[in-house]
Amino acid sequence: MKAKVRRKKTSIAQVQGREILDSRGHPTIRTKVTLHGGAVGIASVPSGASTGTHEALELRDGDPGRYFGKGVLKAVANVNEVIAPEVVGMDALKQRKLDDRLIELDGTPAKNKLGANAILSVSMAAASAASAALNIPLYDHLGKKEALILPVPLVNILNGGTHADNNLNIQEFLIAPAGSPSFEEAIRKAAEVFHNLKKLLKKKGYSTAVGDEGGFAPNLRADEEALDLIMESIVQAGYRAGDDIFLALDVAASELFEERMYVFKKSDRSRRSSDEMIDLYERLVRAYPIISIEDGLAEDDWTGWAALTARLGKKIQLIGDDIFVTNIHRLKDGIRKGIANSILIKLNQIGTLTETIETVSCAQGQGYSTVISHRSGETEDTFIADLSVALNTGQIKTGSVSRSERVAKYNRLLEIEEELKDRGSFAGKKVFAPYIA
Ligand code: PGA
Ligand code: ZN
Repeated sequence: MKAKVRRKKTSIAQVQGREILDSRGHPTIRTKVTLHGGAVGIASVPSGASTGTHEALELRDGDPGRYFGKGVLKAVANVNEVIAPEVVGMDALKQRKLDDRLIELDGTPAKNKLGANAILSVSMAAASAASAALNIPLYDHLGKKEALILPVPLVNILNGGTHADNNLNIQEFLIAPAGSPSFEEAIRKAAEVFHNLKKLLKKKGYSTAVGDEGGFAPNLRADEEALDLIMESIVQAGYRAGDDIFLALDVAASELFEERMYVFKKSDRSRRSSDEMIDLYERLVRAYPIISIEDGLAEDDWTGWAALTARLGKKIQLIGDDIFVTNIHRLKDGIRKGIANSILIKLNQIGTLTETIETVSCAQGQGYSTVISHRSGETEDTFIADLSVALNTGQIKTGSVSRSERVAKYNRLLEIEEELKDRGSFAGKKVFAPYIA
């Protein structure tokens, strides 16, 4: 008699990648992992526009005959033909082992061979499948089932930079409704401010069309006018700026950097040195209740970043996105050099779930705050909502309160907050405690 092979229910039976469209109408990859017990996990990978040069590689076909070269059929083939045969039979519960195998199969530091998009889709889908097999929510599978924290949303209500066809140089003008008792109340405040902003823009004859991340994208007199309009909208909505709601910026300054100068190329082409950029931020922080600035300087301007941190690092949160690219080595280097006090976390900058979690743990251990983030090209996947709760990051940045690919994450967080009841709590103003008098 033949010995019956006993397969674990959580071992991977099938891995199937496919090409789908992201929120900008560009191709991206979605992968379905099926376990032997029948559980299924599906994950889609987002895509940035203001990508950091040090990010892991997003593999695109480069075939001009399809999607202007942006097709991802090579990445899909890597999932279906290279990765699948190697990971079938592996236990989806052993995420680290799986991710190590994926890293090993690629063998390059930036995941150039298989593509970080291909690798990440498998890494995330396996985690989802494992949580389905265990019949527990994804946040419980990814987290430690301890008391869990609902993040403060950084809501991007005005879009500029590479995310909009307007004259704003700063990429993101965000509101952080931290002074709220719950996530539900925080998102309500954000939506009310968003609608007041729309009314105000209309009244002033400005466009109310939205940019890539669902925030409005009008042409304004200057970047600072955006801050004035947001302040007025907060007041109109009946909230106190600097108490209920704080302001935040993502300057995405790597996009402005040309020959060691920062060029406001979408408006008057004025040029500023690193020091002059820091002067500008000091002025803005004095004039407005800005609690956080992301990528105030460029990814390779380490001396500028050190000066920025020395001058503003005790007053506000300074988030490193392009400079760290969710890479633990770059983060450790930054910590050693006294750069930033916070890190933006994007799964696809590094390419596996395990490496992402390691970077978050490292930051948390060193007293750096952590902000889980979407990309400007998104899908309806809500993985990052669960991840932010699981890792107790305290903050999430996932766009405005319009466009379903953004709102899907907020809606998932509303659901999680309800599910958690007394086991969860809203991060609230505590996340900004070092910067609030
Ligand atoms: P990206 O923008 O997804 O286009 O890189 C988001 C960000 O800079 O934070
Ligand atoms: Zn950024």
